[in-house]
Amino acid sequence: MNFELTEEQIAVRDAARDFAQRELKPGVIERDKNMTYPTEQIRQMGELGFLGMMVDPKYGGGGMDTMSYVLAMEEISKVDNSCSVIMSVNNSLVCWGLEKFGNEDQKQKYLTKLATGEWIGAFCLSEPEAGSDATSQRTTAVDMGDHYLLNGTKNWITNGSSSSVHFVVAQSDPELKHKGINVLIVETSWEGVDIGAKEDKLGIRSSDTHTIMYNNVKVPKENRIGENGFGFKFAMKVLSGGRIGIAAQALGIAGGSYELALAYSHERETFGKPINKHQAIAFKLADMATDIEAAKLLVYRSAWMKDMGMNFDSASSMAKLFASDIAMKHSVEAVQIHGGYGFVKEYHVERLMRDAKITQIYEGTSEIQKIVISRNVVKGNLYVETQPKNLQEA
Ligand code: CAA
Repeated sequence: MNFELTEEQIAVRDAARDFAQRELKPGVIERDKNMTYPTEQIRQMGELGFLGMMVDPKYGGGGMDTMSYVLAMEEISKVDNSCSVIMSVNNSLVCWGLEKFGNEDQKQKYLTKLATGEWIGAFCLSEPEAGSDATSQRTTAVDMGDHYLLNGTKNWITNGSSSSVHFVVAQSDPELKHKGINVLIVETSWEGVDIGAKEDKLGIRSSDTHTIMYNNVKVPKENRIGENGFGFKFAMKVLSGGRIGIAAQALGIAGGSYELALAYSHERETFGKPINKHQAIAFKLADMATDIEAAKLLVYRSAWMKDMGMNFDSASSMAKLFASDIAMKHSVEAVQIHGGYGFVKEYHVERLMRDAKITQIYEGTSEIQKIVISRNVVKGNLYVETQPKNLQEA
């Protein structure tokens, strides 16, 4: 077993760390407070290659492995989780899915723009009554011969207003249940795409989360991803990969909280000594460090399994489940270590604590991760490590 990072992975991690500290940190408190979308920061991230990291360079991407992507997500999430969720959705749910399952025309037309950050994408699955229960799609895509007619409402859509394309999950044949679902590429400039109000959220406040309405949107047939009825499998596979990104985000939140708490524990003195010389604080730091190292093993392993072409469904669910729980637990502890200072915005830990909560909810709640893991455990599938070559035939 080799735990060493390659030179390229170290360079990516260091570049992301430097960018996050130098470019994201200075304005992050204000953007969070005012719910300001990080337009300039996302432009820079596109230029630096953080928005299409795993995409083949022939489509304008960075051609990197999932491990490099995870390391970059982790560093950016130590500082700005609005930027990292925008990055995660574009890389994992949009670019990766399109590169793996889209056809060449779709890649030439859309992936080349998405991988460079010229365009941002959104993944539109959740509905008012279909979040966890993803097969219960009410949005319809009726086959009209040369196009689909799309109608319905999606909510909690990350990149809802900043995106130029939406990947919309919709039901084309309710009798076939999940086998009637398709995913359509919809340009947001098309007639009938209406963006609802921006959500006022507890955390990741400067990312744009919206309800989207589709009213009689005409979507050309060539914009369907995969064969007719492949949409649900596409959504499940893409979310499995997405969960690695969100697990890395959670790991970054835990790591960022820990780094801030550790630095503060050296500076702050009580009863004549730095607070980390008191066992009450030192043991909290020990628990944080141990959990973060354990989470790294799960998150990095899931990335490695994906890169090796293994089945990573359980691994990514385990990584997200564990990392999001420790992000929540230790961001709360970081606030506690800061005492009263932790409760004010200037010290950054209260924001990380607010950001942590969503990692237990989006891209599948912790309870959904337990469904995925337990089904694999019960089937005895946990260590089946072969990925079907062609998912459409799987
Ligand atoms: N890969 C490929 N196929 C898969 C799969 C996977 N990982 N998981 C399931 N499938 C297939 C199954 O094999 C089955 O296919 P067949 O009928 O051909 O056998 C089909 O999909 C249906 O599977 P299930 O019977 O397991 O479906 P289910 O209704 O029991 O649901 C679930 C399973 C895991 C609970 C699923 O509904 C789920 O993941 N729900 C959570 C959805 C979610 O993550 N929502 C978050 C929204 S997106 C978001 O948050 C993005 C953002 O903006 C940040």
